[in-house]
Amino acid sequence: MTSVVIPMSNEYVEDLKAEIIAILTFKGGTGKTTTAVNLARECAKTKRTLLVDNAPQANSSKGLGYPQTKDDITIFEVLSKQNPIREAIIKTEIPNLDLIPSNIKYIRRKVELGSHSVRLKNALKEVENDYDVIIIDNDPDYSIVTHNALVAANHVLIPIRIDAYALDGFDYLLEYVDEIKDDYNPDLKVLGAFINQYESNTNLMKSIKKQLYDSLGDLMLNTVVRKNIKLAEAPFTGQAIHDYDHKAAGAEDFRSLAEEVLGLVRTKQAG
Ligand SMILES: Nc1ncnc2c1ncn2[C@@H]1O[C@H](COP(=O)(O)OP(=O)(O)OP(=O)(O)O)[C@@H](O)[C@H]1O
Ligand SMILES: [Mg+2]
Repeated sequence: MTSVVIPMSNEYVEDLKAEIIAILTFKGGTGKTTTAVNLARECAKTKRTLLVDNAPQANSSKGLGYPQTKDDITIFEVLSKQNPIREAIIKTEIPNLDLIPSNIKYIRRKVELGSHSVRLKNALKEVENDYDVIIIDNDPDYSIVTHNALVAANHVLIPIRIDAYALDGFDYLLEYVDEIKDDYNPDLKVLGAFINQYESNTNLMKSIKKQLYDSLGDLMLNTVVRKNIKLAEAPFTGQAIHDYDHKAAGAEDFRSLAEEVLGLVRTKQAG
């Protein structure tokens, strides 16, 4: 019996490209890495997922159980064109979840990347048909490394931690996204912002939450990630919250976040 070969339309080929989500804020400690690791873990339940640890502190790599060695082939070797991207990809123990690790050595060496801002985009092009979702964790600063992430991404996801300085740098971040969109990457959109480390038992948090939703409107996602000690414990075991304690409030919140993000990505892509 001969098998029937169904030709792929261009539209279908287009659909094979990954949605690339950069997690970014210009404030430290808002939950970028926690989001990158746990969102990637949730996405991997149904999507072929690649987590790119684009932050020299390598917290995403450690959070997924990959401590650093000096011989690692990391995102730095990819960006500096020392190794092809496929050599840097680690297949994790979790089905459908791959990782490009980072390494602390990259803190001092990122200056060597000069002004090459399309390196990550070009590297990801080589593997984008292998994945449905690519998530990029970033440092909280402006550098050529972050620049590469925004040139490569289609979406920016912004975790906000409520404190007196919650929105410092927020307008600047939106302006920066607009500039990258105008100059390099017309596909770039802000997917949304969400509150992380929320504590519903304080009136101050409740009132700032209301102000955020009033002032940022549609930019705010519905999901709120509660403060949950299990989310802080999980990285010590090299596991995402789903694998550390899937019944924890943090696991529940990241399931909701992933559902909302994947729904929005599809909607925005279709539109
Ligand atoms: N919802 C949460 N509940 C409890 N702890 C959390 C939560 N989100 C993050 N944390 C903890 O807060 C700290 C900062 O989070 P994280 O490392 O994800 O922030 P970051 O934005 O990546 O920081 P940096 O800007 O330094 O890269 C970590 O110790 C993390 O475990
Ligand atoms: Mg981080």
